[in-house]
Amino acid sequence: MIKRTILAISVTTALAVCGSAFAQVAVTIDTAKPGPVIDKNVYGQFAEHLGTGIYEGMWVGPNSKIPNTKGWRNDVVGALKELRVPLVRWPGGCFADEYHWKDGIGPRNKRPVKVNTNWGNVTEDNAVGTHEFFDLAELLGSQVYINGNLGTGSVQEMSEWIEYMTSPSKSTLAEMRRKNGRDKPWKVDFFAVGNEMWGCGGNMNPEHYANLYKNTTTFIRAPQEYKPKIIASGGHTDDVKWADVLTREVKNDMAGVSFHYYTIPTGKWEVKGAATGFPESQWFSTMQNTLRMDKFIRDNKAVMDKNDPEKKVGLFVDEWGTWYDVEPGTNAGFLYQQNSLRDAVVAALNFNIFHEHADRVRMTNIAQMVNVLQAMILTDKTRMVLTPTYHAYKMYVPFQDATSLPVALENNTTYSAGSQSVPQVSASAARAKDGKVYLALVNTDPNKATEVTVNVGAAAAAKFTGQVLTAAKMDAHNTFDAPNAVKPASYSAQAAGGKLTVQLPAKSVIVGAVE
Ligand code: AHR
Repeated sequence: MIKRTILAISVTTALAVCGSAFAQVAVTIDTAKPGPVIDKNVYGQFAEHLGTGIYEGMWVGPNSKIPNTKGWRNDVVGALKELRVPLVRWPGGCFADEYHWKDGIGPRNKRPVKVNTNWGNVTEDNAVGTHEFFDLAELLGSQVYINGNLGTGSVQEMSEWIEYMTSPSKSTLAEMRRKNGRDKPWKVDFFAVGNEMWGCGGNMNPEHYANLYKNTTTFIRAPQEYKPKIIASGGHTDDVKWADVLTREVKNDMAGVSFHYYTIPTGKWEVKGAATGFPESQWFSTMQNTLRMDKFIRDNKAVMDKNDPEKKVGLFVDEWGTWYDVEPGTNAGFLYQQNSLRDAVVAALNFNIFHEHADRVRMTNIAQMVNVLQAMILTDKTRMVLTPTYHAYKMYVPFQDATSLPVALENNTTYSAGSQSVPQVSASAARAKDGKVYLALVNTDPNKATEVTVNVGAAAAAKFTGQVLTAAKMDAHNTFDAPNAVKPASYSAQAAGGKLTVQLPAKSVIVGAVE
């Protein structure tokens, strides 16, 4: 039995581990039937005014002793550039639902000081505002995704923000932008009307929001070349009503509907589970809960396909990732958590799911970029460390704007805990912009390695060249004192006897070119 995705299939064969003989999972890549392009924005990031995600983690200010450019840390920006970050979402999250953009312009020492009521009740001095955010995007070479405030803001406030950023005119707002140091209008690539309107954005229902959305977009006016693609704030987890109502009620001015889903090991918000030192049962439940993303996307797509068969509207998963109990001794409102090999495996599983749904999933934003939830980078004053998730993002760079290719998995084995199981191997393939075919493989089983034979069409591939990410322990992670405990290693395999076999270690991610 062969199917296009591992999540729909699982031909379970007993994994016979006798000496070195593994059951062989067979992956066949069909280069003759290219699928949709995997939008590079699937590899988007999210930076919220939350904890040390922006302040300390990225922004230190131009007068800091920490080397910086226009206030942004050189070490962090340099590392992020390696990920070719395609876009950054800012300023939230729930923070966006209470953010007033005029607080963040003009001389920094004159900006109003507020309290970040969503995240830890700490002082928010508005040092990072619109101009600083565009500086960051420029340093990273990434597009911008600005999240508007519908919760406590107004249509007028959003309309004026857009005018401030994009107007080439001599209007008072455009002149204010010039006075604040930016002559040319900025291109705002994406703009969202609110965030989590079912929760921190205002606890409303989708019908009410749909009307507010239409009201807002009527007044978002920008010259064509600077005009943002507009995003409607959608649902989360298993709630498809938002995607349904929005794709029915809002026909124009909507590039995508957002969707949020977090992986919580226990599935319970009250006690989520620790980032490290967890039992194997929580490794398993983390894999299982991550794979639920596939069903949630399918369910959203089903209603969207009904209402929008031309697929004009994208499903933008603009918040996802692991959410654990905060690290002991840290501010509970800062959402600071360690990041282990488990997080890299979670990231890779999600990437493979997003690729599978590239027809609709045209943007995702992991939560969040630095020091918050499933971060790429952790910082401690002058020091920084790259997380296993960072390495997964880097390994998957060839998939940005690549053309997806169907993958069939035969004889996939399962990883089981009691009566429950998940597929052991997840696979995804694409033809990258360099012309090469790339294959990504993930082994969800923390105990068993497996072997994967790789075919391109009817023939065995000749060689595989890439990288493998794994470690001895399930919760292996990088620290400021041991920053390279988890990092990718080179991996290559040559065909032998007409067969190309990739050895997939337990709890691992492998990405490479197939020739
Ligand atoms: O990413 C952290 C928070 O999670 C965001 O602010 C909010 O939108 C979501 O609930």
